[in-house]
Amino acid sequence: MCRAPELPDADFERWRQLLEVRAGMVLDDRQRSFLQIQLAARMRELAIADYEGYYRIVCEGVSGRIEWVRLLDRLTIQATRFFRHPPSFALLEAYVSEFVQTAAGQSLALWSLGCSSGEEAFSMAISTAEVLSRQGQSMTFSLTGTDISSEALRQARQGTFSRQRLDGVPATLRERYFRSREDGSYQICPRLAERLCFARLNVLELSQAPLQGLNVIFCQNLLIYFRRWLRRDLLNQLVQRLAPGGLLVLGVGEVSNWSHPQLVPAEHPEVLAFVRQADCPA
Ligand SMILES: C[S@@+](CC[C@H](N)C(=O)[O-])C[C@H]1O[C@@H](n2cnc3c(N)ncnc32)[C@H](O)[C@@H]1O
Repeated sequence: MCRAPELPDADFERWRQLLEVRAGMVLDDRQRSFLQIQLAARMRELAIADYEGYYRIVCEGVSGRIEWVRLLDRLTIQATRFFRHPPSFALLEAYVSEFVQTAAGQSLALWSLGCSSGEEAFSMAISTAEVLSRQGQSMTFSLTGTDISSEALRQARQGTFSRQRLDGVPATLRERYFRSREDGSYQICPRLAERLCFARLNVLELSQAPLQGLNVIFCQNLLIYFRRWLRRDLLNQLVQRLAPGGLLVLGVGEVSNWSHPQLVPAEHPEVLAFVRQADCPA
């Protein structure tokens, strides 16, 4: 493999600013070589020799917007897995269970923000479906997964996972919610898949998302890439998307000393989550 050409200081600064302004991603000096390798790999594919020339292409016109989307697939960290933080899913199940008892007949709307290739969204759907079936209710819920990476979303929409990627899924749930395929991979079952939809959304453009009145929002391992003021700003916007009584689940340690007058912390020692007070108007 040929070495990536050295990324000059001025180019690093230019790319760093572009990524922060457009996607909120903050790159420090330790991530410089990651940026260099990813840019150079894409430049090789396009036969572009210098970082400045590639920068100009990304910033120009409609073709530049398309190239930007391609580049983001390389620069975003999409690491994820099923039931990644089990206590968060235990809290979700408790929430759904209570919802069913207090709001019988109403349907639930859930949102996985920064859903990557879908593991978080499918885990939320499985947890919800399990509670509803235990309580003898039909599957009256919908779940939206959003992400900035079009490649991650393509995988999520496919709903196909290798056996290894299903490691976090207990065998009983695997049998209930997945179909094994001839090539050894697993496909999410249609009756669950039809509850989900996936859409491209940059969280910096939240105002463009039509989602409102959500009962549950998961936003985990996404805010860590943003500056502290931006995390708080985004969270304040998410609160407005929650239905009264709705649950907001974050990644542990992703925001500190943040509170909102319409929220109360959820009662779970291992989860960073908040509930929108039921008597707060939307
Ligand atoms: C580390 S993954 C987390 C996936 C999942 N939430 C989890 O906890 O397993 C972070 C995801 O955030 C997405 N992301 C990064 N910046 C984003 C932005 N500005 N808007 C929307 N999604 C973004 C990435 O594409 C990636 O799929």
